[in-house]
Amino acid sequence: MDADLIKLVNKLQDTFANLGGELDMPQLAVVGSQSAGKSSVLETIVGRDFLPRGQGIVTRRPLVLQLIHTPAPDPATSNQTYTEWGQFLHIDKRFTDFDAIRKEIEQETYRVAGQNKGISKLPIHLRIYSPDVLDLTLVDLPGLTKIPVGDQPSDIERQIRSLVLDYISKPNSIILAVSAANVDLANSESLKLARSVDPQGRRTIGVLTKLDLMDAGTNALDILTGRVYPLKLGFIGVVGRSQQDIISGKSMVDALESEAEFFRSHAAYRNIAHKNGTKYLARTLNHVLMNHIRDKLPDMKARLNTLMGQAQQELNSFGDAAIYGDANQVSLLLSAGRIRYHNAPQQGSLVLRLMTQ
Ligand code: GDP
Ligand code: NA
Ligand code: MG
Repeated sequence: MDADLIKLVNKLQDTFANLGGELDMPQLAVVGSQSAGKSSVLETIVGRDFLPRGQGIVTRRPLVLQLIHTPAPDPATSNQTYTEWGQFLHIDKRFTDFDAIRKEIEQETYRVAGQNKGISKLPIHLRIYSPDVLDLTLVDLPGLTKIPVGDQPSDIERQIRSLVLDYISKPNSIILAVSAANVDLANSESLKLARSVDPQGRRTIGVLTKLDLMDAGTNALDILTGRVYPLKLGFIGVVGRSQQDIISGKSMVDALESEAEFFRSHAAYRNIAHKNGTKYLARTLNHVLMNHIRDKLPDMKARLNTLMGQAQQELNSFGDAAIYGDANQVSLLLSAGRIRYHNAPQQGSLVLRLMTQ
């Protein structure tokens, strides 16, 4: 995630928390057919290896992943040896080893959804604390399927659709509609479902995975340039780690490098290489979040004005001089007022200045 965006959002969030409100950030949900590469995409967005991935039905319960920004501990004053950790809702333990997080997700999936391909609506809640993340919620979802296998009930298709709809119908959610490039886009279940809740394609990002697995001589240029299916936020092609890469333990850094090389050296994609790939997807996501915050600013400003008015009244009742002058003065006075209540003068004054200028 972009460091500037992380800083901005954290400042806003802290300030609103201090003022008794909250900055409500969108939730990001991945949708797609089974094995389209949903978990792989989510993992690269977070930038850590910790999700069960693989052929067949791997994600069998929703995973509600809350990223929580935590400042890195100061090595001079802290003896904490780690800066990132995971915490599940169902178990009281701090996980600093991300492989152990993956194993716990697998075990918790077995425990509730059984050993034999069953699906459960009951989400697994995981929080990841890290200095490198935004406060944001991402949801990994079971893949859309048609034909029941193993312990799956005969109406598995309907059940998964309703489960996915629970997450993507919220107007505040951003939909990552994942389709594999080696399957005809006309059959893409993710786009059909996304369209049913976002008919104008305003909050859907099309993600085309597995470009490396297309038949020789074919390519997805038309899809990636928006000539096949209209989405305001467009389509972004990615090349994730293959099953063989997973088996051989290919690192995320190496995978990102081979992905970049794939786009740079491909005759059909060379000219659009800068608008594809996992890094570009992450940047696009940053833009979407920035726009979301921008949309919320007028409302936040109105709430801050109300709070400023209340603070002024209180200051008056303490016998202070009435507030004259410009917005900067007001914000200073308000921050002075806030010291009494919250002991967080810097955060309060900083954002108020940002809002009133
Ligand atoms: P999910 O079921 O949609 O969550 O998909 P996964 O992320 O579990 O991936 C399913 C399989 O596809 C795994 O074996 C991945 O290694 C593989 N995979 C995912 N993305 C790509 C890709 O872009 N290229 C290739 N070759 N394999 C991929
Ligand atoms: Na899978
Ligand atoms: Mg998955």
